[in-house]
Amino acid sequence: MPKSHRSSGSWTLLRFLRPYRGALGVAAGLTLAETVLDLARPWPLKLAVDNAIGGRPLGGFLSPLDGLSPAALAGAAALLTLALVGIGALVGYLITYLSGAAAERVGADLREAVFHRMLHLSLPFHDRHRSGDLVTRLTGDVARVEDSLVAWLTTLVPEVLTLAGMTVVLLVVDRVMGLAALAVAPPLALVVALRRRRIRQAQRASRDASARLASDATEMLRNVRAVQAFTRERETDDRFRGRSRGALRAVVGAMDLEARYSPLADMLLAAGSGLVLWLGVMAVTSGRITVGTLLVVLSYLGSLYGPIRSLARLARTLARGAASRERILEVLASAEVVPSSPAAPPATPLRRSLVIRGVGFAYPNGPAVLRGLDLEIAAGERLCVVGATGAGKSTLLGLLLRFYDPNAGRIEMDGVDLRELELDSLRRQIALVPQDPWMLDGTIADNIAFGRPSADESEVLLAARTALVDEFAERLPDGYATEVGEGGVRLSGGQRRRVALARAILRDASVFLLDEPTSGLDPASERAVMRALAQASTGRTVVAVSHRLTLAADADRVVVLDDGRVAEQGRPSRLLEGGGAFARMWALQRPAERSEHPLAERREQTITLERR
Ligand SMILES: Nc1ncnc2c1ncn2[C@@H]1O[C@H](COP(=O)(O)OP(=O)(O)OP(=O)(O)O)[C@@H](O)[C@H]1O
Ligand SMILES: [Mg+2]
Repeated sequence: MPKSHRSSGSWTLLRFLRPYRGALGVAAGLTLAETVLDLARPWPLKLAVDNAIGGRPLGGFLSPLDGLSPAALAGAAALLTLALVGIGALVGYLITYLSGAAAERVGADLREAVFHRMLHLSLPFHDRHRSGDLVTRLTGDVARVEDSLVAWLTTLVPEVLTLAGMTVVLLVVDRVMGLAALAVAPPLALVVALRRRRIRQAQRASRDASARLASDATEMLRNVRAVQAFTRERETDDRFRGRSRGALRAVVGAMDLEARYSPLADMLLAAGSGLVLWLGVMAVTSGRITVGTLLVVLSYLGSLYGPIRSLARLARTLARGAASRERILEVLASAEVVPSSPAAPPATPLRRSLVIRGVGFAYPNGPAVLRGLDLEIAAGERLCVVGATGAGKSTLLGLLLRFYDPNAGRIEMDGVDLRELELDSLRRQIALVPQDPWMLDGTIADNIAFGRPSADESEVLLAARTALVDEFAERLPDGYATEVGEGGVRLSGGQRRRVALARAILRDASVFLLDEPTSGLDPASERAVMRALAQASTGRTVVAVSHRLTLAADADRVVVLDDGRVAEQGRPSRLLEGGGAFARMWALQRPAERSEHPLAERREQTITLERR
């Protein structure tokens, strides 16, 4: 991966926590309180055993209670326990609510930020990543980061604090026992540290596998027509099952790694507890501590398992979160945006010319598509680009929109390099009818209005009429409110094209980029659409790409693209007479199609010429 694609370290997710620092701060304070309550919980036991049963006097601040009967003391101990648990429960609820809600909000912010970033990342990024994978990052990965955040707040911090508190209390009660308990910590930390990396790598692999699974599923389901038409259900099924098993293996592998941590931690703990138990009994028999104190210590030891166990479980949640965070940061920190300064001067409607100077272009890791292309397009001109399949015609239109930037040379709009114009304003000057019309889930009217959301209904209808959408839309029971379905499946190919045309017409741009605007239309509709285009494009600059020579014959100038350069250009009639590449293409086109065109006669002469 090139350097610029790598995540930059300065990007962390911390900035997403900042807006909620109030709630998180309160939660942190409550967590401290909860830890103190947790630590206090075993002490009523000492009151019951040493004072109520053992009859020892209560020293210090508890001496006023000295006169109480054992029953009253035991009752006080019970009440104290109840109070500690009750307050603890309330505090626990507050912590869960505050931190949980904050984590959900952080998750929502994160999701929105990642989506925003994805929308702005340039096409090379999107060419490399499958949409299913990106959706997984947006949903699953964000959820996992959220889970790990909740885990941090509600498990990691309190449990670690509790553990630390217990150790401190143990140290105060009896230094030797405290040190024995502490001795377990270094090996435990070592186990966690050693495992962490591997668990995270395993989690990353598992996440990538499930993202591939999601991408595959999306792709196969979207192309279910192709699968059924070619009766490829079995293979598709097998391929999916293979992927699914792969994802399963990856996730089980990660789980296995994580699961191995618990027994290890348990063994270490048991060793530590055994040592402390032994030391404790020694301390009681030598009279250094009371039985009540030993009970408190043993109760701590018993409750040590809880935090350590949950920390082990947590290691898994955190490793998942870390792997997902990596996947999210890849998007958030990607530098692959179309370079454009918001301070750059805005593009204005084309007045003089679009000039393509020595443009060379290759897709990432691909062969050269354009090699030193020179072309000047005058404002108001209607240019038609023709050329063999794969010649780079659509690529050229993409460069004009800055979907990609040329690797060599430059494209100028009224003398200014496109890269020095503010991007949005540049794209606002251009209306594109893509080769495969994009359809969004929504109604026909929504799809047209996408070209200019500020347009009112009458403008939408006018554009629709110009592009001949009304011909079919008005016959539909729901008219323009007809839902087009995912990818426009409920429309015919020609209908989709007309909707895309209407969208471009509504755009109100000074430059029209039409990629095969009439393909998929019957000859009568083609003529009608061409008339509509002629009408819509008055005063606009049109760069049309077409294999249909009827469209080329209507242009002011034809450019033949070959081998990444302009092979020939000129008025269509002159090119026909010249007998070059364009004339040869013309000769190959179906006679029925040609005879409809006024240029037919001239062309017949060309063919006769060629035959001689
Ligand atoms: N997004 C992409 N990533 C990598 N290579 C691409 C991409 N799009 C197109 N290409 C390659 O660039 C070359 C030119 O493609 P382009 O779509 O510009 O051809 P075209 O002239 O429009 O062809 P057609 O007449 O079939 O539409 C092709 O060889 C194609 O394989
Ligand atoms: Mg194309």
